[in-house]
Formats: sequence, structure tokens, C-alpha cells
Amino acid sequence: MNYENAVEAADYIKSKADKKISIVLVLGSGLGAFADELEKAVAIPYEDIPHFAVSTVEGHAGKLVIGDIGGITVAVQQGRFHYYEGYEIGEVVFPLRVFGVLGIETAILTNAAGSVITSFKQGRLMLIRDHINMMGVSPLRGENDDRFGPRFPDMTAVYDVRLQQIAIEEAQALSQERHEQGIDKKLTPILRRGVYCALSGPNYETPAEIRMLRMLGATAVGMSTVPEAIVARHQGMRVLGISCITNLGAGITNEIIDHEEVMEMGRIVGGKFKTLLARIVGRISGQ
Ligand code: HPA
Repeated sequence: MNYENAVEAADYIKSKADKKISIVLVLGSGLGAFADELEKAVAIPYEDIPHFAVSTVEGHAGKLVIGDIGGITVAVQQGRFHYYEGYEIGEVVFPLRVFGVLGIETAILTNAAGSVITSFKQGRLMLIRDHINMMGVSPLRGENDDRFGPRFPDMTAVYDVRLQQIAIEEAQALSQERHEQGIDKKLTPILRRGVYCALSGPNYETPAEIRMLRMLGATAVGMSTVPEAIVARHQGMRVLGISCITNLGAGITNEIIDHEEVMEMGRIVGGKFKTLLARIVGRISGQ
């Protein structure tokens, strides 16, 4: 994960879209639709970007889309590299390194996740207030390059408190509007705060593992986001994390967990999620 490689990738991206990018959004499984909202969009396939790996998992398009929304320019990482695909952890987080080199100050990381607690419903969104890294590896392992960040970075506040506040306010306003328009019969809160725990996957958890995660204080479980959040913080970016709860964790109901259903739920929630993201981006840009 060397600095020169990140500079080379950043230079290539600048050659395709030479604009000041304010925010990068990383879109999780089934949540790629947000990129369609962008105006004057330029799509750059990962395989064209020097030193980027190529995404293999179904449902991940594998391109970086740069475009405008609400008067600012954002980059959307449509499809991410997962550790379970066999990539080195440095490859998983390489895009974030590049975004840091590009001078992007804010990263919005999204994912599909299973609920660890029983009271969460499928299709709800969770604002990540903290995480537990159970992937068994830190993306910062190995020699540290001080141009990225310090050797021993603090992780007390990975997820920016101000951005969390913005997300909560926008979610409240959106659920109120959905209620008034009759889309949502009951006034249900769209966003609830929780702790995201990352495991390496690719298998889903056992019921015993879900019970363990609950005892450890996790609210949701998934296979991504944490390495990217660590690297983003390492280089001083502000991070916001949102999970789409696509299913209840193993053993909470009698149903088995099916990847197709996880993807489908992502798509069902996609519209609501897209709107919320657009509003959050609009608020951040107005700051
Ligand atoms: N576990 C882990 N990752 C996931 C899940 C799950 O239940 N659902 C979506 N991603």
C-alpha cells in the first residue's frame, strides 16, 4: 500500500475528472443506485485505475463515479473490495488511500448488515456510532508511512459526531415527510444508532456467534466498512457510517440467510436510502 501507488491512482482519476471532490461515498451490496442521482457523471472502471484491484462479488459494479449533487462534487465507489474475496487487506483499503491523497475530507461508508439484536426489523437503517473489528487484522499492519498518518492512530471517535447529528436530523425530517405523505403508516424512525461488528466472512454467522456478538455489545454484523473506516481516520478524514439491515442475524428467526434476499432487501430499501444520502450530502456541503 505504498504512497507512490496512491499518488499514481489519484493522478489518473484527476486526468479523468479534474474537480475538487468534497465527499466520497462507498456503496454497499445492493445499494449502488445512489450513483444514478449524480449529474455530469464520469464513470471510471476500477480496472482502468492504476493499482486498483478488480471487484468480483455479484452485485458490485466495480466503478468509481464522479459527479455533482446538490451543488458539490462527490465520488461514489460503486462496489468495494472485500477481504473475503481473497484480496490483501491493503488492496481492500487502497481506494480510501487514494481518496485521502486526492484531498477528500469526508467519507460516507455504507453496507448491508445483519441485525444482532432482535428488535431491529429488516429494511431499517442503522447509523454506526462505533465499531468492533473482529476481522482478525488491521489494515494498518506493517510499515507505517507518515505521509498517510501516524503509527498509532487514536480510534476514540472513528465516526464523526457532527456528521452523525446531521444524519439523525435528516432521517427524522425524512420519516416525518414519509408519514405525512402516507408512505409510512406509522411514524417509524428511519435511523437508529448502533455498533457495527465486522467479521471476515464470507460465511454468515452461526446462531452461537450472533449470541456472542450481542453479549459483546454489537448491534449489527457485516463483512466490510471497518478496514475502510480505520484507514480513513488514519489519514484524518471525517467518517460517517450507515448500515442497511437486510436481515436478522442467524438464529433470531427460523429463516436461513440467503445472499439473494440480502441483495433484494438492499434494493427495496435503496430508494429511501438514496434520498437520505442525498439529504445528508446536501447538508454537509452547506457547512
Ligand atoms: N451477517 C454478516 N454480513 C451480512 C449479513 C449477516 O447476517 N447480512 C448482510 N451482510
